[in-house]
Amino acid sequence: MTKKRNALDEPQKFQRALVDWFEQVAKPYPWRQTTDPWAILISEIMLQQTQVATVLNKGFFTNFLKKFPTPKELAVASEAEILSAWEGLGYYRRVRNLQKAAIAICEDHGGKFPKLHPEILNLPGVGRYTAGAVASFAYDDPQPIVDANVARIFSRIFDFKERVDTGGGTKQLWQWAEALLSNNYPRSYNSALMEHGQQTCTNKSPKCDACVISIYCHTKSPELLPIKKSAKKTVLVDEFALFAIDPNKGILLEQESSKNRRAGMWKLPLRKYQQTEALPLLLKTSYAITHHKVSLRVYQADPQRLPKADNQSELIEQWHSLTELENLPMPSPFRKALNVLLEDYI
Ligand code: ADE
Repeated sequence: MTKKRNALDEPQKFQRALVDWFEQVAKPYPWRQTTDPWAILISEIMLQQTQVATVLNKGFFTNFLKKFPTPKELAVASEAEILSAWEGLGYYRRVRNLQKAAIAICEDHGGKFPKLHPEILNLPGVGRYTAGAVASFAYDDPQPIVDANVARIFSRIFDFKERVDTGGGTKQLWQWAEALLSNNYPRSYNSALMEHGQQTCTNKSPKCDACVISIYCHTKSPELLPIKKSAKKTVLVDEFALFAIDPNKGILLEQESSKNRRAGMWKLPLRKYQQTEALPLLLKTSYAITHHKVSLRVYQADPQRLPKADNQSELIEQWHSLTELENLPMPSPFRKALNVLLEDYI
């Protein structure tokens, strides 16, 4: 077996190996075909908690950018507009922060996306990874990035047997990212690192035989790295919703009025088990959100005899005509359930 080498001793060779490989295999993602920092920021925020395939397949990235081509359009959009444009991506806090960043760009930078890394890092909702990604992808500015892909690669090549999700672990990863950063082609090198994590140095069954930096990799058990606190246990939750439809008034929906994560989103009204158990069950489905698995049951309710919510003060309940439904922001599981129910109803 060839003797292993240390990437820190020859960072330029390490970078070259990754970038040469990347130039052969790079996927033509739309955010790689642009150097517009606004487009790149949008893609990075979308990709934070949503898979590449979802962002691409449903056209979320392209549609969002068409609707909000510059920070100015997003800065002045209504809450319903921004939530609707994000519908299907989940984790709606991201689009609220994106709007705050757009407002900051308009108010503090005259509507022009800032050029300097510290200014980008200062935008609301933008952390060290995102600032590094935008600066390197948009401006070819040599800034390090550490995301889950990079953390996996570094913990394996340096056989890092400590937890990566601690202050000390994070600090070590960023130090390696800085030490290995390319000053010659930061954009390509940072993209190559991410692509390597996605295609070769994968979470499960890494393709070590095909790895172009295996000479630098010191671990014997890549599948055991990186070390992290084990994932939170999945919690099962039940939701009981009403499908109340009235030929004159339309359909009853509710919205949480408090400033919680789902405020602004419309859904079928939720009630307690005891309030729904005697009603006819129309639909049963399930969805996942963070570490929860939610079982959602929807019951037929008579508009004349609706069970009352006991947290009424925190809710806005309204009747909506069927024609306005498509313009109301709605969490995806409720949108899907409603589409099925309406198909049967109509
Ligand atoms: N995941 C997060 N950012 C990404 C990017 N720029 N390219 C591919 N996957 C990503």
